[in-house]
Amino acid sequence: MSVRKIAMFQPYIADGAVDRVCEVLKSRWVGQGGLVDELEKDVSKALKIPYAVAVNASSAAIRLALTICGVRPGDEVITTPMTCTLTNHPILEQFARIVFADVQYETGNIDPVDVERRITPQTRAIMCTHWGGQPADLHELNEIANRHGLSVIEDASEAFGATYRGAPIGAVSRFAAFSFQAIQIISAGEGGLLAVRDEGAFRQARTLRWYGIDRDNRKANALGYYDFDITSVGFGYHLTNIAAAIGVENLKTLDAQRAHRRGVVAKYRSSFATAPGVTLLTERPDRESSNHFFTMHVERREDFCRKMKEAGIETSIVHYRNDAYNVFGGLRSDLIGLERFSRSYIGLPTHMHLGPDDVEHVVATVRAGW
Ligand SMILES: Cc1ncc(COP(=O)(O)O)c(C=O)c1O
Repeated sequence: MSVRKIAMFQPYIADGAVDRVCEVLKSRWVGQGGLVDELEKDVSKALKIPYAVAVNASSAAIRLALTICGVRPGDEVITTPMTCTLTNHPILEQFARIVFADVQYETGNIDPVDVERRITPQTRAIMCTHWGGQPADLHELNEIANRHGLSVIEDASEAFGATYRGAPIGAVSRFAAFSFQAIQIISAGEGGLLAVRDEGAFRQARTLRWYGIDRDNRKANALGYYDFDITSVGFGYHLTNIAAAIGVENLKTLDAQRAHRRGVVAKYRSSFATAPGVTLLTERPDRESSNHFFTMHVERREDFCRKMKEAGIETSIVHYRNDAYNVFGGLRSDLIGLERFSRSYIGLPTHMHLGPDDVEHVVATVRAGW
């Protein structure tokens, strides 16, 4: 008898993406062009954000945000250790100092109380990640940031389609970075997007994204060639029309994805609420997760993962606590919530390829114990 295989993550590509990519490949414009504009317009509309700048990775979007915030060598950025390492690499790329704040055991998100304790005169920005797609405490984080003259930069890579107090994620803080990487909710193969609220930051991001050249305001001379100056260091962060074609088509699946993932998580939560050895995370009533993946705490995690694997179900801790990596300075001992969270959490799949039988199989396996 073959064992059923359930992957933790699996890319979801809309049917229309194949034809759209073929059209781009047969056109004379495969690099950044009209489809990138279309993706930005569609995302702005879907997430009700004033300005969107598509880039080639969410870490590129974070680097743009840090640059626009004026983060310079020696400055400090307060951030979460419970995230993908690419949330935090851009801080080091700016030669700034990472200051890890603690996370909440109940959500995996950064703890605003600890954030405020760690502010110094060198602090320039506060960053957060929405663990698994459940928004962090954005009201508190933005209030602290406003009081200290700082900006909030959200790594919203896992939170496409999530909402906070009725507003889509992307429309709340000064900056939010999304990822269109292979297994994200909206994938473009690879890619990312910076959501910004003010026009000044938007103009800066567009210029920095493309070699530091302000394409919107450069003028052609009599021969049709452009004369322009470059006044600050620019990046090659532009997205291709090929990737944007996938993104545009996949974006059309957002409502279906939200409904599917919401249903899977509702089933998990109701089934596991009384399961021995399981502690559910807290769902805050003023926000809705994108449910990129499901997280819960389990006793004897290794035994749990072994049992799931035997049943053909892939589980994952998704991201290691970042302070475990020497590049970020090595293990911290002053992050009590992180220590508790990271010891027992585990991720389960919620993706679009999970059918009702798969969900039942996951539920039955967990409920049978390990
Ligand atoms: C929270 C978070 N941030 C950043 C990334 C990296 O995204 P990108 O490859 O688009 O930079 C991921 C991808 O796994 C992620 O989950």
